[in-house]
Amino acid sequence: MTEAAARLRALGGDEPATVGLVLGTGLGPVTDAFEDAVAIPYADLPGFPSGGVSGHARRVVVGRFGGRRVAALDGRAHVYESGDPAAMRAPLETLKAIGVETLILTAAVGALDPGLAPGSLVAVADHINLAGYNPLIGVAGDGRFVDMVDAYSPRLRAALARAAAVEGLDLPEGVLMWFPGPSFETPAEIRAARVLGADLVGMSLAPEAVLARWLGFELAAVATVVNLAAGLAPAGPSHAESRTVAGQAADRLARLLARAIERL
Ligand code: HPA
Repeated sequence: MTEAAARLRALGGDEPATVGLVLGTGLGPVTDAFEDAVAIPYADLPGFPSGGVSGHARRVVVGRFGGRRVAALDGRAHVYESGDPAAMRAPLETLKAIGVETLILTAAVGALDPGLAPGSLVAVADHINLAGYNPLIGVAGDGRFVDMVDAYSPRLRAALARAAAVEGLDLPEGVLMWFPGPSFETPAEIRAARVLGADLVGMSLAPEAVLARWLGFELAAVATVVNLAAGLAPAGPSHAESRTVAGQAADRLARLLARAIERL
């Protein structure tokens, strides 16, 4: 076990976490709903990403959530920070090493469907990655040829749908197209993404989904719409807006996730 895994395992106490969360921009307040929470900064976990993006705390929070022990990666490393598509490999490997089996990714995203107003939650059903980056480039062995059919687990998507119904929340499903950023898309790129079958655009999530399947997690992802994509609203998207809108949606996202985790 790596030093990071040993430290996290010790932090989790006798009952190790079996569910992992990755919290996107502005979504850190989801951990406010954790009971018996303990936090450890990434800086204390060897191999975890340093640096930072505003709206990301960069700590792991372990606690009880939805009746289970959950380890949340509160803050992610994005590919646009380093050019490394495997930027989240060490944190995800660490979750795997401490016993996490189910991984739920979250992210703030732009919507291509004007019906998805800012604040909407969307369960990711699939993704499109035409960016030319893959986190498994350079990985040896036949394990790298990961099957991405049903990568976003139908079982977990059903649990999310039931949880949304119980909580009285809308939870449509959508396809996310990954753009590595950090500039937002052009309106022409957004029109192209729409033609290609995307409902959402975002600068994270897809590379982590590939890593997650490679590592053998059962995977789900919930996107929080923070803006209509470029060209679909009078004003262009902004990071400040992402943080604010995501923060306002974090409470609803926490309710949804807690209910879904109860049903795993
Ligand atoms: N595009 C890409 N990523 C995003 C957006 C967007 O419009 N909003 C939040 N993250």
